[in-house]
Amino acid sequence: MTKIQPVRGTHDLIGNDLQLYKHINKVVSEMADNYDYNEIKTPIFESSELFKKPLGEFSDVVLKEMYSFEDRNQSSLTLRPEYTIPMIRASITNNLLNRLPVKLFGTGSMFRRERPQKGRYRQFNQINFEILGTFEPSADAELIILAYEFLKNLKIDDKVNLQINSLGDLNTISKYNNILSDYYNKYKNDLSEESKTKIISNPLRILDSKNIEDSKINQNAPKITEYYSKTAIEKFDKVQSLITSVGINFSINTKLVRGLDYYCHTVFEFKTNKLGSQDTIIGGGRYDGLVKTISGPDIPGVGWASGIERIIMMLNKVDKKIPLVQVITIDEQSREYGLNLFISLRRLKIKTRYDHKTNIKKSLKHANEEKIKFAIIVGESEATNNNYTVKNLIKGTQHTLNFEELLNMLK
Ligand code: HAM
Repeated sequence: MTKIQPVRGTHDLIGNDLQLYKHINKVVSEMADNYDYNEIKTPIFESSELFKKPLGEFSDVVLKEMYSFEDRNQSSLTLRPEYTIPMIRASITNNLLNRLPVKLFGTGSMFRRERPQKGRYRQFNQINFEILGTFEPSADAELIILAYEFLKNLKIDDKVNLQINSLGDLNTISKYNNILSDYYNKYKNDLSEESKTKIISNPLRILDSKNIEDSKINQNAPKITEYYSKTAIEKFDKVQSLITSVGINFSINTKLVRGLDYYCHTVFEFKTNKLGSQDTIIGGGRYDGLVKTISGPDIPGVGWASGIERIIMMLNKVDKKIPLVQVITIDEQSREYGLNLFISLRRLKIKTRYDHKTNIKKSLKHANEEKIKFAIIVGESEATNNNYTVKNLIKGTQHTLNFEELLNMLK
């Protein structure tokens, strides 16, 4: 019989991966607090309408990847595929946009019906940072520096490279889209089937296609740099000089366009060559028209998100904290005495195991296998004399101690 499995593209977080997940969350929560970002948590599902327009009606996420379902009252709901839009929605709902800029941090599960592969899941966890309400390039730089420091704190900064690009302002993007459509139209018979469907609806995405034929055509595609406005050039230069001034290395990739449709000006990705094709561990950029699209005020924004599962894959094993003590009760009568002991030890934050067995041999074997240092054995005689038999399983020594002596020894 085949073993019961989770739904395709989902996974259980257990053991070492869960330890790493907790470690990453701890590091990033401390950073968010230190950098003065306010954490918000939003519902896992939202109205489908919320995502459709801002993500682009013709983007892959909206067309193929959203988990949408009809509620009993016929309204359409969607499991959030990303966190930026729900965070903006929540900022509008909860009147957080009164004093700008607003700095937000959030973590949680996202859902996309993508083809599962190494590093790509249908339910995955993201870390998100957003700044709403400033056009200043220093906000883009602050977020890129924050991302870099995050990777540095996890000791994986040397395994990633930062690529940046500017998509120019919103006018540039629409003009460039038309120019690209015209260009790709000339090669429509040679493009991959997938790219053909994007010639009109989303030509920008053909630029970062991994298909070999598409890449050849992309070599001579018009470059966005030729269409930048003066302000866009100045903003992009400023971002570059700010991140250079703190010693962050990067390369400019004019084909970096990002998978979601809401970006303008700076876009960036931290990539690694350690994970195969799903190589982006942090992605983000500026989205100056997005808040307005979600019926909020006309304010700009910039942010990034990181996939926790991909970061876990880049980290080494963590040492699990093993219990210091195993309490062993050797008969029914001594259970109460043993129970009082392990409750007291746990209240003193001494990691203590109790396996509910009264088989001393099996319990000691288990404690030895797990490399637990002390076994505290209690039976009728210990309960009567109010003491404890303590075995040091590493040294093989044994003592009879009262509670105070026991604590001194454990400390
Ligand atoms: P994104 O590039 O779609 O951007 O996702 C950001 C990161 O989430 C990716 O770089 C990757 O690490 C992780 N990720 C995405 N899809 C999957 C998946 N199927 N399985 C595992 N990990 C995945 C956004 O979501 C934007 N909201 C980022 C942003 C925030 N832009 C501005 N602010």
